[in-house]
Amino acid sequence: TFVVGEDCIKCKHTDCVEVCPVDCFYEGPNFLVIHPDECIDCALCEPECPVDAIFSEDELPADQQVFLELNAELAEVWPCITEMKPAPEDAEEWAGKPGKLALLER
Ligand code: SF4
Ligand code: F3S
Repeated sequence: TFVVGEDCIKCKHTDCVEVCPVDCFYEGPNFLVIHPDECIDCALCEPECPVDAIFSEDELPADQQVFLELNAELAEVWPCITEMKPAPEDAEEWAGKPGKLALLER
């Protein structure tokens, strides 16, 4: 499966959702997740993210392993998103910033 990692938090560009053939992205207030049971591993979304927040499960950095469980958990409670929408106005400022997990809103 593919996993949305920390760099998506407060960036949320949503380019990724447009290309997913099985509509398995789910949207929270400042982050998106992929439903691990619905993702078919097509890899189309990974290059679409302007901040490189999406990883295949095998390539998820060691310090982001918690995002495996977060994607699975939050995909069950957040609504599906299939169409791109404008990123937050301050998305650029947050690109690549460390420690964003603490800012994740549910
Ligand atoms: Fe969707 Fe493919 Fe990305 Fe999985 S890898 S979330 S199926 S676009
Ligand atoms: Fe997030 Fe990148 Fe998609 S910032 S919403 S994973 S395009």
